[in-house]
Amino acid sequence: MSAILFSLGNKTDLFNKILLGINGKQGLASFHVFPDKEHYVKIDSDVKNREVIIIESLDKPDHKILPLLFLVKTAKDLGAKRVGLIAPYLAYMRQDAAFKVGESITSRYFANILSEHFDWLMTMDPHLHRYKSLDEIYTIPTTTLHADHAISEWIKKNVQNPFIIGPDAESKQWVEAIAKKYAMPYRILEKRRIGDNKVEINIPDLETFKDHTPVLVDDIISTGATMLGALKKLQSLQMKPAVCIGVHAVFSGKAYESLLEIPQVQIITCNTISHVSNGIDVSDAFIQK
Ligand code: R5P
Repeated sequence: MSAILFSLGNKTDLFNKILLGINGKQGLASFHVFPDKEHYVKIDSDVKNREVIIIESLDKPDHKILPLLFLVKTAKDLGAKRVGLIAPYLAYMRQDAAFKVGESITSRYFANILSEHFDWLMTMDPHLHRYKSLDEIYTIPTTTLHADHAISEWIKKNVQNPFIIGPDAESKQWVEAIAKKYAMPYRILEKRRIGDNKVEINIPDLETFKDHTPVLVDDIISTGATMLGALKKLQSLQMKPAVCIGVHAVFSGKAYESLLEIPQVQIITCNTISHVSNGIDVSDAFIQK
């Protein structure tokens, strides 16, 4: 019997593609926020003895976590066989160490919460930096998918003479995989974060790539400070107009608008988080699993 798929609200493009691709059944549920901001959740489909999958990207996680937990607990109370979570974007991965004494290692605590309630987890390009795999913090079976195939195909099709750039050491894992597929040249820059919205980027001599189109690739675009810092350096070197590719379109505050102020910049993201910049469809990776 096919799985029943739920989300917390609007059905995204990715939700609909996965639903179709795995021949799932759309689950019916109602959500409401009371005037005092408490959440109401009701499952209207029969989930008894069924495989249930909740598809929800965990950007803005603090708004989503309680209704998500209420949904999984309701499905279990109604007799669902197993409840899995497809979180195309997995939150709370960047605080992966206590950098100062007393700091909360939120990646670990968030993993504890999800592991306690779900039977399995599937996600795409989680921010694995100090952790080598999700299994270091999640106690349920996890599947990590990658957007590198879809991104390199998009670059091959849409960018003339590309030169791939990773804005920091952490981006090396994505940038290398993307560049190597079609033997595209690449460089990794050095970044130092000074604050939430401020980074310092060192750029090497790029004279040999003056005729190339710079393609910046990062996993998350959040404040946009990383991309903006790298774009400004490229501008100062009078490189060709750049393309910025982010796997996860988090875009906090006015990040997207600030990036668009760079002349002729093109900003493209994968559809793990629904956003106007989505141009790379990664649904195949989820469907093929
Ligand atoms: C950090 O290491 C990540 O790979 C991204 O570079 C970072 O999350 C981007 O954040 P922001 O857009 O706030 O600079």
